[in-house]
Amino acid sequence: MTLKAKYFLIVIFFFGNSIFAQNYEAKVDSLMNLMTLQEKIGQTVMYSGSWDQTGPIVGSDNGKYIREGNMGAMLNAFTVKGTFDLQKVAVEETRLGIPLLFGYDVIHGHRTIFPINLGLSASWDLNMVEESSRIAAEEASAEGLHWTFAPMVDIARDPRWGRVSEGAGEDVYLGSQIAKAYVKGFQGDDLSKHNTILACAKHFVGYGAAQAGRDYHTVNMDEGELRNVYLPPFKATVEAGVETFMSAFNELNGVPTSGNKFTLRDILRDEWGFKGLVVSDYISINELIPHGFAKDSTDAARIGMNAGVDMDMVGHLYRKFLKELVEQGKVSESYVSDACRRILMAKFKLGLFDDPYRYIDEKREAETKYKPEFLTKAREIAAASSVLLQNKNKALPLSKSTKTIAFIGPLVKDEYDILGNWAAKGDRNGKAVSVFEGISEYLKPNQILYAKGCDILKDDASGFDEAINTSKKADVIVLVMGEGHHMSGEAASRTNLKIPGIQPQLIKKIREANPNKKIVLVLMNGRPINLSDEVILVDTILEAWFPGTMGGAGVSDVLFGTYNPSGKLTMTFPRNVGQVPIYYNMKNTGRPIPDNNPNEDYKSSYIDTPNTPLFAFGHGLSYTTFQYSDLKLSSNTLTFSGEISASVTVTNTGTTDGNEIIQLYVHDKVASVTRPVKELKGFQKIFLKKGESKTVTFTISVEDLKFYNNEMHYAVEPGEFEIAIAPSSNFKFKNNFTLE
Ligand code: NOJ
Repeated sequence: MTLKAKYFLIVIFFFGNSIFAQNYEAKVDSLMNLMTLQEKIGQTVMYSGSWDQTGPIVGSDNGKYIREGNMGAMLNAFTVKGTFDLQKVAVEETRLGIPLLFGYDVIHGHRTIFPINLGLSASWDLNMVEESSRIAAEEASAEGLHWTFAPMVDIARDPRWGRVSEGAGEDVYLGSQIAKAYVKGFQGDDLSKHNTILACAKHFVGYGAAQAGRDYHTVNMDEGELRNVYLPPFKATVEAGVETFMSAFNELNGVPTSGNKFTLRDILRDEWGFKGLVVSDYISINELIPHGFAKDSTDAARIGMNAGVDMDMVGHLYRKFLKELVEQGKVSESYVSDACRRILMAKFKLGLFDDPYRYIDEKREAETKYKPEFLTKAREIAAASSVLLQNKNKALPLSKSTKTIAFIGPLVKDEYDILGNWAAKGDRNGKAVSVFEGISEYLKPNQILYAKGCDILKDDASGFDEAINTSKKADVIVLVMGEGHHMSGEAASRTNLKIPGIQPQLIKKIREANPNKKIVLVLMNGRPINLSDEVILVDTILEAWFPGTMGGAGVSDVLFGTYNPSGKLTMTFPRNVGQVPIYYNMKNTGRPIPDNNPNEDYKSSYIDTPNTPLFAFGHGLSYTTFQYSDLKLSSNTLTFSGEISASVTVTNTGTTDGNEIIQLYVHDKVASVTRPVKELKGFQKIFLKKGESKTVTFTISVEDLKFYNNEMHYAVEPGEFEIAIAPSSNFKFKNNFTLE
């Protein structure tokens, strides 16, 4: 009997046909009854592909480990060509023929790249988040992938940390909503469909609070902070049905999170009832040794499994040491079985036991990548993610009839950095639409002047003269500048938040040469930037983030007013790096600065910089203006079992149609644990034609007001609350209600 026939028989005999596919538990149990301890351990092992020209090499150690039944999943292996041979070995050349899982970092798109996640979050558009991750899942699954290591749901309040680019910013409520939308997009409504993939909530937990914004650094926080700020987006993903979690690199209060029983077992499993699988971050179990938490590799494997990490990403420790640890009684066999069961369950849910090659289809692969409708969506999302930070003298939108516009800067013609970090298989060579290409849809060649001026990082100013001369010839100047894509993401922390290199000098020189001309700065970057000088030097700043494959087209739609910008910041922009961490929902302190005397001494402030940010959380302008009026509460008293509604009328008072993101904030004035000065509790994005008014209503119940108190009870306390509906977090409360 051929091996393939053997596999077929095993599948038919033990698992029946797919009509009974929902009875996964029984099927997993039947399969597990056949498995040796070593085979179970094999499922807990993930390796990374070592690539030849088309995909991971089967003849390498990978092939050997698969054949031995020592591999359950593979990272960085995709494309039909790249996964087929590996899957064939697993299915046809191992005793039980258990298919592999293929995982990859599909973070903001797979081929069609959307704006970086921080940018996408600035759209405050949950449909767009879901649509973009749905498209990413379509493209990824068509290339053999079953699993993405996304979304990253770490709350991030420190722009020095490069990974702020991968998340949804600083806010707990918004971050939780966005986290759910990603999960829905990746996993769809039915994992057994061939175009859905497993999502992974990462990095569990506290990674975003790395000391001094330095990647992988130590995290210390009290349990209240952990539960009130850092855990909720993760919990939201569990509620949304996320199938997998990733433990993190950082330690949390002295216990590394990839060996942290409290977070992985007590909270994730016991409190939240999470049933899916937990994978370690890349060699994060091995890193228990340098953390000073494990004495050697065997010890690290013991701690990882006992703490609740089901799968070892690339660390080789479970493969090498788990068997002996079980035999010595240092790891319970039931832990290994539970881990294996969860991994098999994921494979069943994906339908891999019905057809291990169901994600491997050349025709689908060829038809799916860069579909025109994906690119159209990417263009729209790039536009919707951009944030108009400042627009003095109405320098934007640009007019198509302007005689000449100078486009200056290292990112004008860029098709490489524009995709941002973690751009999966997005093509950086020719597929991405640069700003230059984008504006060429709006202007004739003789209207466009161009000079690069300088590089992003090099300090060679030899291009300055040409750039300055070019700027002098133009009627309007557009600078396209920012960071390189490698300056944010993993291991890309910065201590300086300025626009890098000599770009700021070029901005200054261009302003000096053109004191009265309108200057627009288009920024591409992966974090909040210190723009204190630029807000004075230029008229307008459009934060475009790294906008993705269609970025140049989407940004140009905003520049020329085809798309009226509506994005709002999801992370505070500081005045300088010394204010960091700075976020809108800080505590008041015992010595807040008095409203009527901002310079009063002995208050919680700096002697050289105001406490306020340069641009607040929730800030973002439009080409039109919106007026908020008539805030009404249905009652000034909320009861424990009741609800009240808060409504406001928003009017588009300008001359252009546009979207507005309306934000609901609450402040719990007195509590047994001090509460932030304001907290986002709701938002709505609405479209208003010029002159149009709409009344927007939010409902508030005690659920919205709960928090973890010092006894770690999730509770609400009676008393007075302030409430506001506002266009950004930069407002003062005027209304109250009482909870009684
Ligand atoms: C390390 C990163 O921290 C994580 O986010 C990523 O998913 C893994 N590497 C796999 O590439």
